[in-house]
Order: sequence, then structure tokens, then C-alpha cells
Amino acid sequence: MNSSMRVSQLGKSSIHEMTRLSAQYEDVAFLSWAKPVSDTPKHINDAAIEAIQKGFTSGYSQSEGLQELREEIAKKLKRDNNINANTSEIILTVGAIEGLAVAVLATVDPGDEVILPTPTYSTHITQVKLASAKPVLVPLVEEINYSLDIEAIKKAITPKTKAIMFCTPNNPTGTVFPEKDLRQLADIALENNLTVIVDEAYEYFVFDDEKHFSIASIPKLKNNVITAYTFTKTYAMTGWRIGYLVAEKERITQIKKAHIPFAICAPVVSQYAALAALKGSQDSVDKFRSEYLSARNLMCGRLDKLDSVFSYVKPGGSYLMFPKIISENKVDSVEFSKRLLADVKVSTTPGIAFGFTGEGHIRLSFCVPEEMINKAFDRMEKYFK
Ligand SMILES: Cc1ncc(COP(=O)(O)O)c(C=O)c1O
Repeated sequence: MNSSMRVSQLGKSSIHEMTRLSAQYEDVAFLSWAKPVSDTPKHINDAAIEAIQKGFTSGYSQSEGLQELREEIAKKLKRDNNINANTSEIILTVGAIEGLAVAVLATVDPGDEVILPTPTYSTHITQVKLASAKPVLVPLVEEINYSLDIEAIKKAITPKTKAIMFCTPNNPTGTVFPEKDLRQLADIALENNLTVIVDEAYEYFVFDDEKHFSIASIPKLKNNVITAYTFTKTYAMTGWRIGYLVAEKERITQIKKAHIPFAICAPVVSQYAALAALKGSQDSVDKFRSEYLSARNLMCGRLDKLDSVFSYVKPGGSYLMFPKIISENKVDSVEFSKRLLADVKVSTTPGIAFGFTGEGHIRLSFCVPEEMINKAFDRMEKYFK
């Protein structure tokens, strides 16, 4: 078969492998879901239905998205992210994912290097590989709350480095990278003329005293940063496939050239739904945040009782956490997850899926009903007793 090297080099996703294995069992307690389980709020669904009925959704929109929607996004960026952007600096994409993929394609050439502080969202690593560039994984410092290792990032820069790519809050660790560290990262990017590609999918899910900081709010970084956002997490709109990028105008012009052959435009019905999401009540966002916070507290409390098996860093954001396996019976993360599934029907995600620095860990999602968390931990407590 004549598959391209670009694609055939990509390994099988251990996330999908676990999903496949989980389907073979009944009554599984899932701690591996990483998508909102709530329904999309009704006023958003209603707005989409109305747009269909009025006949607004049968054609393409402009490739960059509806003008009215980009105007609302510009207001949101100012209000919530402290980012000054006009509508020519925004492009609607097919979820954050397509936005990130075209951001990478518009930034790197084959053979370029992209620094990724890891563990990180595995799709970012795949996107760099698909662009025929080289992912350079720099470990986060687990001992200091999974913080960015600024010195190690500096050392990893070579003449081939084009970009630094990360998500905050981070998937899988739940770390909210602090403003102080992000300002240092911005300085490094400017000194070395690198592009910062940042994914802020979980921007609204931040707990305790943590503050989400958008690196694109630093004015001098404007020409060196692309930020991806999504409606998926904020408004429980996973299936609508709608997100957007913000970057300097000339960069958006380049990105648009990559976006058109993949998508032409983001789904128009979803753009109308997104417009209603931004214009309508934000109560559901607050509700999701408080649900995730209470689920996080429950999960941490249950993990405390398993302190001979796991150690963990309390996540400050997202709805994910990344405990370390400290039990004596050392097996790798894939084997550990497989055994948990086979022996007690608890589904988790092996840490290796998030880069080699994730080995020895599992990712747990607390974006699940509290009964699911209790069921999973009741089973694990018996198992590890
Ligand atoms: C960090 C991060 N970015 C992006 C996505 C996907 O976003 P979208 O549905 O908008 O493509 C996910 C989903 O899990 C994620 O965890």
C-alpha cells in the first residue's frame, strides 16, 4: 500500500485503543471521557433550529466565518481574555482542532522543530508530525505543580525551532500556567523569533485562586502568537465542531489559505449556534464550572484514600488530572490501564498517550457524574486493598 510517510509514521492512539477495549465490557466505570457529558443548553439548540428554518444554513459563509459572529468574538476576547483583536484577526474553524492543525501548517516547514512542554494533549504532537516537523518534548516539572521548565525550554531551542505549542489549562495535568511563567515564555519567543501556538480550550474551567492568563494579551507578542479557542468545552458543544483562532491580520490571511482546502468554512449552522452561545446567558458556563469543581474535590478525596497506589498534583483547571502510579507492582501505564479495565472494569487513559514524560501515570477525567467517580473508586479501593 502506498501510504505517505507523513501518515504511516503516526502511531496507533492508545486513547482509541482503550476506548475499543472498554467497549468489550459491560458496566464499565469511565474515568477516560474527556468531553462534556451535559447537553448543549436549550437556547443554543433553539437558535440553530431557527437559523435552519429561516434558510440561513444551506450555503457556505465567508471562509473566515460570519461577520456578526466575529464581532461577538472580538467583544468576548476583550472582556474575558484582555486581547484586542478586530474581526480581520479572527477565523472560525472546525473545532479548535482544525484551527490548531492549520495554525501549525501555516507556521512550520518540513524539518522545523516545535517545542511542546509535556505531558500535553497528544493531538498537538500528532499535528506537528503531520506537518512533517519534529516535536521536541520538554518535560514539565511535576514536583513543582507540573510547571513550565523555562530553562529547559531555552536549552531546547535550536536554529530549526519555529514554534512553542501548549495548552493552558493543560490537558492532561490540569495545570493553569501562571502569568509570570507565560511572560517569560513570551520573552523567549520574541528573543528567538518563535511563534507561540496556544490552545485555551479549557479557559473557563479554572478553580480556587488560579487565574487563566492569555499570553496573547501581551501586546508586544502580537505578531508571534496564535491562540485557539473552542465552544466544545465552554458550552458543551462537542458535536457542533466549532472553534476559532485569533492572530495578527497577516497571519490570519496565511492561515486562511490552509483552512480553505480542509474546510472552506466552519459549519454554518454551528456558527449560528455559537452566536447564540455568546449572546445568551452564561449561566450554564458557571454551572459546568461548579460541577467540575465539586467533582474534582470528590476525586481528590477518593485518591487520598489510595495514597499507596497514586500520588497526584491537584489540578487547578480543566476537568482532567494526571496521577502518578507509585504502587510497588510496577508496570507501564498501558498495562496498568488494561489491568484496571480487565480486573475491575475501570476505564482510564494511559499516561504514555501524552508524550514519553507521561509514562508511569494515568489520566483521569472528572467530567463524569459523581456516581461514576464513586463507582470507579469503590472498585479500585477493593482491588488495591
Ligand atoms: C486541549 C484540547 N484542545 C482541543 C480539544 C478539542 O477541541 P475541539 O472539540 O474544539 O476540536 C480538546 C478536547 O479534548 C482538548 O483537550
